[in-house]
Amino acid sequence: MTIWNLGSINADHVYAVDHILAPGETLAATDLTTGLGGKGANMSVACARAGARIGHIGAVGPEGGWAVDRLTEYGVDNRWIKRLDVPSGHAIITVAEDGENSIILFPGANRALPIEAIRAALAEAEVGDWFLTQNETNLQAEAAALAREMGLKVGYAAAPFDAQSVAAVLPLIDFLILNEVEAAQLEAATGTAPGALEVNDVIVTLGADGARWFDNRSGTVEDFPAIPVTPVDTTGAGDTFTGYVLAGLDRGMPMGQAIGLAMRAGALMVTRPGAADAIPDLAEVQAFLQ
Ligand code: ADP
Ligand code: NA
Repeated sequence: MTIWNLGSINADHVYAVDHILAPGETLAATDLTTGLGGKGANMSVACARAGARIGHIGAVGPEGGWAVDRLTEYGVDNRWIKRLDVPSGHAIITVAEDGENSIILFPGANRALPIEAIRAALAEAEVGDWFLTQNETNLQAEAAALAREMGLKVGYAAAPFDAQSVAAVLPLIDFLILNEVEAAQLEAATGTAPGALEVNDVIVTLGADGARWFDNRSGTVEDFPAIPVTPVDTTGAGDTFTGYVLAGLDRGMPMGQAIGLAMRAGALMVTRPGAADAIPDLAEVQAFLQ
């Protein structure tokens, strides 16, 4: 089967600085690294590296060709990534010597996708395929409704948390994944705990404490401990976990087994600096701690 991911594509520009800028201050950075990021791109790369067939639905601007090439090199089908006359999504990240950071996120092309692009992509989908989305693009609810109408299973990573998007998308999904902070935000916004949502499967990731799966059809809750590692950079851990779970489910794994695989991918990811470019492949994940 195929996973269709409507998601953001960003250039992450990471500047090393002595300290975080104060208002009105000018500061020379001591280092710059640029990599592929954005929750959408990260999840697509994780799906591909986990061995799934993945079509990314998204958009970049005139300067975003390298990001599309990078996605393609990782095995993501790029035929539904539009080139728009709007700047590509990007993040300006400053990291101070003491580890403190600040981030400016420019959504750009990520929020300018026309609905026709989504229709064109989903016209190629088959009943039983997965549709996946997050909160860094436009048209999540419209696309989820369309996917559901066409017989796709709908997965949603409700991040970054946004009450309006969540309210619109929640009634349309089969699978929800969010971290502990987002789960608290969701409960505050809706008054409903993860185990009481009308969503078949809900996973709350708990960082170094692993993850909790709410099987809301049977009303059971199962905890999965994390694999102990020494974290170097937690960027993209949740996105890697999500891509691996979906790839496992798409391949017909039972949920517990898909979570077990994702747990290893997430742990390996936090031992590596970087976002999409650092996501481990299936062979690395299977070799990890065996
Ligand atoms: P997010 O990046 O969305 O905040 P989490 O921090 O909950 O998500 O991490 C997602 C998953 O990555 C966890 O469920 C776990 O499997 C793995 N992970 C994250 N941090 C660690 C850690 N310190 N040690 C081991 N695994 C981790
Ligand atoms: Na990392």
